[in-house]
Parts: sequence; C-alpha cells; structure tokens
Amino acid sequence: MAPIPAGGTVAVTGAAGFIGGWIVKNLLDRGYRVRACVRDSNDDMKVGFLKEMPGYASGRLTLHDADLDQDGCYDDIFKGCQGVAHVSHVSDYTDHDYIARVCDHIIQSVNESGSVNRVVVTSSLAAVLSEMDLEELARRPVIFEDRYPDDANPKRTAKTQGYSMGKILAENMFAEASDLHGGWDSVTCCPSDNLGPILSAHQKNFGPWQHHVEQMLLGKYDQNWVYRPWFPVDVRDDADCHIGLLESTEVFNGERYIAWSTDAIDVSDVCAGISEVLPELDFRVTGPVEVHPERLQQREARYRELWAGCDCRNDRIRAITGVEFREFDETLRDCVESLISIAGIEPVRNQT
Ligand SMILES: NC(=O)c1ccc[n+]([C@@H]2O[C@H](COP(=O)([O-])OP(=O)(O)OC[C@H]3O[C@@H](n4cnc5c(N)ncnc54)[C@H](OP(=O)(O)O)[C@@H]3O)[C@@H](O)[C@H]2O)c1
Repeated sequence: MAPIPAGGTVAVTGAAGFIGGWIVKNLLDRGYRVRACVRDSNDDMKVGFLKEMPGYASGRLTLHDADLDQDGCYDDIFKGCQGVAHVSHVSDYTDHDYIARVCDHIIQSVNESGSVNRVVVTSSLAAVLSEMDLEELARRPVIFEDRYPDDANPKRTAKTQGYSMGKILAENMFAEASDLHGGWDSVTCCPSDNLGPILSAHQKNFGPWQHHVEQMLLGKYDQNWVYRPWFPVDVRDDADCHIGLLESTEVFNGERYIAWSTDAIDVSDVCAGISEVLPELDFRVTGPVEVHPERLQQREARYRELWAGCDCRNDRIRAITGVEFREFDETLRDCVESLISIAGIEPVRNQT
C-alpha cells in the first residue's frame, strides 16, 4: 500500500502524551497536516503545549476530542487523513475483551474513512521480551522484531502480563483487519524506554522513564524491576521512527519494528550520569531504593547476567527509516533540563 504523501494529513491518537506530542511536533516540522486526538481539547494543562505550536496558529494542526472508549469517536476525524499514528494508551490492559473492542472500533473508523493508507500502531518492547520466566532470555537472547515472549508459559496471563499480551493482541488485530480490507496497511512500532525532553509539565508524571529521572532529581528513586537495565530510546528518535514507518515505501502490512538505540544502562548509572552531563547542577547522586521481595533479591546476580547476555538489534528500523539514534548523554541532559525548565523540578544538590 502507498505510504502517506508529502504534506498529507495524519491523525495522532494520544497526542497530548509524551510520545504522541513529539510525533505531532516532528510531523509538523516535516510539513504534514496533523489532527491531534486528545480526550479534552479544553484541558490546557494537557493540551496547552499543542496550542502553542506554530502550526496550530495557522490551522495546519487541529485538535479533536476523542475518548477511544467511545465507539465511533474517530469516524469524522479519520475522514480525509492518509495516515494514522495510533499512539494512545488504552484504559485497561488486563481486560483483553475491552482491548479487542477498542481496536475494532478504531479499525472500523479507518475502514470507513475512505482515505487512510497506513496506520502505525504503537506497541512496546514489552511485546518482544516481557517473559514470565527470565531464563527464556538465555534460550532466546537475540532481541529483534521476530521475537515474541513465551506464550506457552501458563503463568503468562492477562493479569500478570496484560500490557505485553494486550499490545500483541492489538498488533495482530490491526494487521488482520488491514489484510481483510486491502485498502490500507498496518505497521507496528515497538519502542523501548522513552526518555528525552518533555514538552509539557504534565508529561513528567507518566512515562515512566522521565518520571524516574524526576524521582532521581528529587533524591529518591527505585531499583529497576528484575534488575533490568534501561533500554533507552530518545523520544524524538522514537517519533522519527513512527514517521519513517508512515513514510516508508519498503514496509509491508503486519511488520513490526523495534525503536531503540540498543544501549543498556543500569538505573544507578542513569542517576550518576546526571552529574556527568550537567556538572553545573552540583547534583547529589544517590543509589536506588531496593523494591524487590527477598526471593527476587536472591536472584539479582542471575537476572543481571541474563540481561547482560541479551543481544539487542536495531538494524531493521535503521535501514527502513534512516534514523540514527542519539547518544544517551544528550537524551539524559535534555530530559533533565526540560524537567527543570518546563516542570519546575528542583534537583537535590550537594550544597543543600
Ligand atoms: N513511554 C515509554 O517508554 C513507552 C515504551 C513503549 C511503548 N510505549 C507506548 O507508547 C504509547 C504512548 O506512551 P506515552 O509514554 O507517550 O504515554 P502518555 O504520555 O501517558 O500518553 C498516553 C496518551 O494516551 C491517551 N489515552 C489514554 N487512555 C485514553 C483513552 N481511553 N482515549 C483516548 N486517549 C487515551 C492519554 O490521553 P489524555 O492526555 O487525554 O489523558 C495520553 O495522552 C502507549 O501506547 C505506550 O504503551 C511507551
């Protein structure tokens, strides 16, 4: 199927969010027309930053109210769009009937638009490597697009792995629906841990990675769950990956691409990195708070070994989109500066 044309119109769901906001901004910078889908276009705490974009003043960016839990909410918005970036979260990842219903009605709006050529669905790295039994990483350590978590593990249920399973459900539903329709195609983007500059103060609260950095700046942050290193992607690069997948003439329906730099950084090194990239802050580096039950703490060395044994690949997305992923130092610096300047965070300092 054809990708979006130059200067075409793209709808972005979850446009007030961290990733969605950057996709909107970068689409505008590349000359596209953007329909930003938000839950409440009057909530200026969340959407004020979109209204401040120059494209909003000219009308190239428009805001649209849509709660994806409401059947048909995208019907009018998608008409006339050539592309859709479906970035938004859903309200409940543990209820897969609900996720299927929500996917169905978005698909319905795409089908009925008569104009959409391509949908990029935002999935997650969790849909690639979230394992109930981490030993699975020893058996299949190459982390690339064709890898899926072990679905045969009986402990993998909607309750324990709802996010990972719900994302895969959505990936498959969109791919099957586009196959059936034949008039549009669906490509999945699986981002890793997004970090980088926030565009609006409210974005510091979610993430979760920028929120972790906020906690570091405030002097108290948690150990990463199962001692997994951070697998960062700069949110600006992630946005460019989404746009590259909308634009590409080389992707096929049903394909998925992981958006990540393939760096792996321990949470304590992220914290220490703040004082390295911004010595001017005189930031007080602290260690993480242990959050694991005793049983998991005893496995720390093994978990770290398993993560260190992963062979992370990003050759496919780089080849398709041309995106070169930023150095983590730049990502971290810009994240910290935005948390201070946009969200008003006061870092703990050695002097205080
Ligand atoms: N951040 C990461 O590191 C990361 C990593 C992998 C994958 N992802 C995926 O990337 C996507 C965006 O993540 P993010 O970090 O940008 O999240 P975010 O900042 O929390 O933004 C998510 C957006 O989803 C919208 N949303 C939630 N429920 C909705 C509903 N029922 N109807 C309409 N909109 C709804 C929210 O809208 P309101 O503003 O109206 O509340 C919000 O703007 C998600 O699909 C997430 O799973 C994120």
